[in-house]
Amino acid sequence: MPRMLSIPPDQSVAIIADTHANLTALEAVLANIDARGIEHVVHLGDVGGKGPRPREVFELLLERQIPIIYGNWDDLLSRRVQPDFLGDQPLMAEALDYQRNQIGTELQKALTRLPYALELQRFSGVVRLFHASARGLWVRVRENDPLESFYGLFDATELVGTDVELPIGVGYGDIHTTLVKYLRRFPEPTPHMRGKMIFNVGSVGNPLDIPVPSYGILHGSLGLELTLVRVPYDIELECSAAIRSKMPQLEEYLQETRTGMYFPRGAPLPI
Ligand SMILES: [Fe+2]
Repeated sequence: MPRMLSIPPDQSVAIIADTHANLTALEAVLANIDARGIEHVVHLGDVGGKGPRPREVFELLLERQIPIIYGNWDDLLSRRVQPDFLGDQPLMAEALDYQRNQIGTELQKALTRLPYALELQRFSGVVRLFHASARGLWVRVRENDPLESFYGLFDATELVGTDVELPIGVGYGDIHTTLVKYLRRFPEPTPHMRGKMIFNVGSVGNPLDIPVPSYGILHGSLGLELTLVRVPYDIELECSAAIRSKMPQLEEYLQETRTGMYFPRGAPLPI
């Protein structure tokens, strides 16, 4: 059975994702959530990687007792060796070393204990949450992918559980851009899927559409409602922290943080 999270019927839940070691953005987003009086927060993975302060970000999420889902970067940072698919990329290896050293051994172990998926019980059915897809940490579903990929987000797999009910909605992170879709194409491959909601809350620390952190609020008394929120923050404050840290791949991080545009660090590389 997947891990369940029960939210009282009159309460909302904030869904955040992909903080990527950007502490300044996380603090701004949590302040925005707090100002709205929202008590429940879930993080959809990729705590570290890319930015200068993975340990501080992870510690803040743990201190706030925010449930965290396992992301592809959480997987990278909790391993001791470079995965084969990254190939021979010394600069990437250096960046991973920095991230792993910052996180430290104890928190690396804590990363490995994060769940693959969570299910929210609160609305007229369950909402399933994971980092990238039901098929794997590295199986990515982008906005313009074929509709079948979006149907696949509802699959009952070994990773999310094979003995699970069909969710009314699926939320994920990973792609660092927000999206909302309702399955409604006619003729429907599976008519019982009609109207199911798919949402992506974008990224707190490394948004790749505009350089403004995003998150989602799930609420609603009759059914599932979603509000996507943008939280402007002090980008140059985060850039100063990155410069002070002397982290590897500094220029790429500054560029992405300032522009919201992906800067390749070699191929193939994760986001
Ligand atoms: Fe990510």
